[in-house]
Amino acid sequence: MRIIFLVLVLLFLASLGYAQKNSIIPEPASCQFSESRYLYIDQIRFSCQPAQEILIQNFSNQLAGFGIKLGNIKKSGPKTANLILGIDTQKQIGLEAYSLTITPQQIQLTASSETGLFYGLQSLTQLAVSNSVASGFRVPHGTIQDNPRYVWRGLMLDESRHFFGKEKVKQLLDWMAFYKLNRFHWHLTDEPGWRIEIKKYPKLTSVGAIGNFHDPKAPAAFYTQADIKEIVHYAAERSIEVVPEIDMPGHAAAANRAYPEFSGGGSEKYPEFTFNPGKEHTYGFLTDILREVVQLFPSKYIHLGGDEVHFGNQQWNTNADVQSLMQKHQLKDLQAVEFYFINRMTDSIAALNKTMIGWDEIVTSGVPAEKCLTMWWRHDKPEQLQLALEKGYHTILCPRIPFYFDFVQHNSHRSGRYWAKEYAPIEKILAFNQTYAEPLTKYPNLIDGIQANIWTETIHSEERLDFMTFPRMAALAEVAWSKNNSPDYSTFLKKMQVSFRLYKEQKITFFDPVNPERTPELPGPKK
Ligand code: ACM
Repeated sequence: MRIIFLVLVLLFLASLGYAQKNSIIPEPASCQFSESRYLYIDQIRFSCQPAQEILIQNFSNQLAGFGIKLGNIKKSGPKTANLILGIDTQKQIGLEAYSLTITPQQIQLTASSETGLFYGLQSLTQLAVSNSVASGFRVPHGTIQDNPRYVWRGLMLDESRHFFGKEKVKQLLDWMAFYKLNRFHWHLTDEPGWRIEIKKYPKLTSVGAIGNFHDPKAPAAFYTQADIKEIVHYAAERSIEVVPEIDMPGHAAAANRAYPEFSGGGSEKYPEFTFNPGKEHTYGFLTDILREVVQLFPSKYIHLGGDEVHFGNQQWNTNADVQSLMQKHQLKDLQAVEFYFINRMTDSIAALNKTMIGWDEIVTSGVPAEKCLTMWWRHDKPEQLQLALEKGYHTILCPRIPFYFDFVQHNSHRSGRYWAKEYAPIEKILAFNQTYAEPLTKYPNLIDGIQANIWTETIHSEERLDFMTFPRMAALAEVAWSKNNSPDYSTFLKKMQVSFRLYKEQKITFFDPVNPERTPELPGPKK
């Protein structure tokens, strides 16, 4: 009996040891840590090139945010430094890869770019938060060699349905960086509200930004161009690229409230849903908008939406402009009109030296594969993914199951979406690379990455945004970074205990799948 008890205690301690030493999420490609030896640091003496000092400053601020103080950080020579950052461009490693070595004397971090150094520091932060002690910073001796699985590790936030604002977005970016996610897709326009200032068309925000999904009269809420620049800069400091989405030709109702002269009408359920593809001025209007958008976002991509146009294009049948466009270009049906529009706007984007992204509807539009990137979202249409890949489209996978975070994550949850009986729990996210092993193996050079999308029809508050995002963001990162096709659920949850503690400290309203009763569902807005 005593032996069994002892074994159980040892097993428990071993599991704690694991959780402490390596609770890094996402799991590094390879790592070894000492079981018992640590490096303690009470003041960082760093050595790096001047351009990288900002990385050290941000690292120290990040640790302070987690309650780990390091005194005044100090620049030092390589002999006396205890944190040495080096860029080695000779090394044949990817731009996001890094190697980290922790010895009794120092921490040595090497990468081929500043992004790699940044990711090494994120791993170091994670080691520090799980191993530090009351007296200060402590990390285990050991090594990490690491690089990501996918180039595109994305998260999309819909701020048209509900607007969250700069501080919340910055917090999301902080956590994305912590988990090494690197693309923030910002869904800024849709039916309930237009959220980006366009100087040439001020009514887009003075009129179009009024309202949200559950309150059409909510005061105008939007980002000024100065706000956008601030967010883009904040993201870049965290190795995150911001990709804006200006949805067209559907989901255009907010813009149409502001400038009805460019509306192509809608349907009973989706009034004023489309831009008017038959009117030449519409293309000028939209290109003017994009001209301002490209100035704000250094990303090479601009997302043009292109989804669900059939929800509200019925009035094109009776619109004189659209009818004459159809005659002039021999467009046989409304879908041909939609594709004509998408092709023209893709060319407008190309003329602005950017590349268009579209939802998977564009795969049949005739837009040449080299001119765009597509996001496969309709999980019930695997044939659309197949078609995209056969036609050579670079593709991001974001199927609703398991990557739409407005779907519930537990079968006791009632607020949020289901697809028949399907929903989007952590287990399905962790199984993603296994579930899609076939296309991933067959088209490794076309599938650039994966992304989760937070649609916000049912997400009206910061707390509910947290509840739907955490901890699924961490699971997304695990499958976006790690090359292991089947990360173990219980190991992942064990590692998550450190994140759960941090969430609590930062007052993040997360869902704990191990203790669903302790983190009760936070419902969406009342209808
Ligand atoms: C989408 O969910 N309409 C892309």
